[in-house]
Amino acid sequence: MDRRESRVESLVIDPDFWRNRRVFLTGHTGFKGAWMTLLLRSLGAQVSGFALPPENEKDLFNVAGVQSDVEHQIGDVRDLPLLRDSLRMAKPEIVIHMAAQSLVRLSYDEPVETYATNVMGTVHLLEAARSVPEVRAIVVVTSDKCYENTGTLRGYNETDAMGGYDPYSSSKGCAEIVTAAYQRSFFHDGSSALVASARAGNVIGGGDWARDRLVPDIMRSFMAGQVVRIRNPDAVRPWQHVMDPVIGYLTLAQRLVQGGRQFAEGWNFGPHEDSEVPVSTLVRQLAAHWGADARWDLDKGDNPHEAAYLKLDCSKARARLEWSPVIEFDRALQLSSEWYRAFHEHADMRALTLRQINETIGGR
Ligand SMILES: NC(=O)c1ccc[n+]([C@@H]2O[C@H](COP(=O)([O-])OP(=O)(O)OC[C@H]3O[C@@H](n4cnc5c(N)ncnc54)[C@H](O)[C@@H]3O)[C@@H](O)[C@H]2O)c1
Repeated sequence: MDRRESRVESLVIDPDFWRNRRVFLTGHTGFKGAWMTLLLRSLGAQVSGFALPPENEKDLFNVAGVQSDVEHQIGDVRDLPLLRDSLRMAKPEIVIHMAAQSLVRLSYDEPVETYATNVMGTVHLLEAARSVPEVRAIVVVTSDKCYENTGTLRGYNETDAMGGYDPYSSSKGCAEIVTAAYQRSFFHDGSSALVASARAGNVIGGGDWARDRLVPDIMRSFMAGQVVRIRNPDAVRPWQHVMDPVIGYLTLAQRLVQGGRQFAEGWNFGPHEDSEVPVSTLVRQLAAHWGADARWDLDKGDNPHEAAYLKLDCSKARARLEWSPVIEFDRALQLSSEWYRAFHEHADMRALTLRQINETIGGR
């Protein structure tokens, strides 16, 4: 058995658990949310989604027809009465909160909106969930950026201090503090829902069109037949496929329902150490998957120094949730390249995305 197969064996999400399970997902029109919705539907769950409209027609939500998989509601998490009504109507057992203003750069231009959505949106979600007795488990998705970046090279673990330099990062630190306070104040007795938070870093995968992100930028250039200029080729970063943290969030929700209060805390979901590689390796391997028409240029010039990235110590999730990443680095690149190539060639993106999901969860 090769290494990838042995990791697939370690998946703990159980289709019997998820079949017909009622799930309320905020942010289902976004990049991770659309992957999460398709994964939940593949497992047979009943999904209600609450989010703003998808931003552009190339979004995974649109190109894979995700609206047909979900009780789809357009709504703003800053609107507490609407969110509460929506949760009461849906009567979910599990709530996964992913809606957020998710971009660091935009948070400098729109700090008020970023805090309103990411902090008060989380308050509203938890407040609304208090009034829905069917809810048994809540997973609040924040970010690795919730930690105070001290510049250390060791991995951050779940007991490290919250912080955040820019408005986005600090809004995620605030969302963590809000979640912990609600957990202690309102979700602590035996009959209340169990609340946990999930911290993951940047992810790659089909359907991400965000500006200023390396893989979407490379893919756009390959599709346009242009040479992509790679700055900071020696910078080492962790690379993780979007399905890995998404599977982690579901593993956590399942553990909360099955295993109880011991899981009602914060959890890191990062990649394996061998997925930390230089940008130059990433572009070479992506190009090999893309094909002969991929062209790039490494700019070894005087590039500005970049801050050390936040590395997550995920030993807690490995030991206690029995979660570990199932998609290795090269496989993550292959899945990403295949997705954008198929999009470029006008393939059936729903079929392709569902195939990638089913291959990953072992054809369950
Ligand atoms: N993509 C990453 O690399 C990454 C890394 C770490 C953490 N995260 C976190 O994971 C979650 C999902 O990220 P993503 O990449 O899918 O983001 P995304 O920007 O693609 O999607 C965000 C989703 O939130 C919704 N949303 C935004 N503002 C809203 C509002 N005011 N009311 C209701 N819905 C609103 C959008 O409609 C969309 O559905 C976010 O909480 C993000 O901060 C993402």
